[in-house]
Amino acid sequence: MAGLTTDLSPWEAMWAAYDEDSYAVVLEQVGAADVVLDIGAGDLRLARRLAAKVRFVYALEQQPHPIQQPLPENLQLIVGDARLVPFPTGISQAVLLMRHCTHLALYAAKLAAVNCRWLLTNARWGLTVEKVDLRGERRPYHSLAMGWYACQCGATGFRPGPPKQLTTALAEQIHELSDCPNCQPQF
Ligand SMILES: C[S@@+](CC[C@H](N)C(=O)[O-])C[C@H]1O[C@@H](n2cnc3c(N)ncnc32)[C@H](O)[C@@H]1O
Repeated sequence: MAGLTTDLSPWEAMWAAYDEDSYAVVLEQVGAADVVLDIGAGDLRLARRLAAKVRFVYALEQQPHPIQQPLPENLQLIVGDARLVPFPTGISQAVLLMRHCTHLALYAAKLAAVNCRWLLTNARWGLTVEKVDLRGERRPYHSLAMGWYACQCGATGFRPGPPKQLTTALAEQIHELSDCPNCQPQF
């Protein structure tokens, strides 16, 4: 694939629909004024529901699925690889329901480049859907003495420290990082 050094991993490339709870979290977070980019939109089941709620939806998917026609007027399907396709401008929120995503850093950078601030995703923790502020403050790994972190590259982890210093507050806090030990060039 021109311009890329790796293929998508088999898990990442695979289609499987997510559960209603995940969709409910996404749908709760969007409003009538939003323009949403759904990255890895599968068979468009969430994108159609988003389109019923928001101003416009771009659904980006690499696998050609049999798509039930017609699409709502405010839903545009883009068939292509999210790593290569230029992201549309004017997006206010992006959705990335893809637990096995290994390109979160790239997608975050591409979203930031088109001024999209918010990313609704299960790609970092692999379970629940979170709302990531792509413009939020991120601290360097070395400044974190101990505690949970979630990094812009998609990795999550716990920086160990002296057990005596672990408080309940620290155990519940998640620190946003920009340069965790797992950060690798991804593209
Ligand atoms: C686990 S499925 C989730 C589908 C959809 N988000 C849902 O909840 O029904 C992940 C989807 O992401 C797509 N995908 C993975 N990497 C992609 C890429 N680089 N560009 C476009 N689509 C991608 C896969 O083809 C797959 O359909």
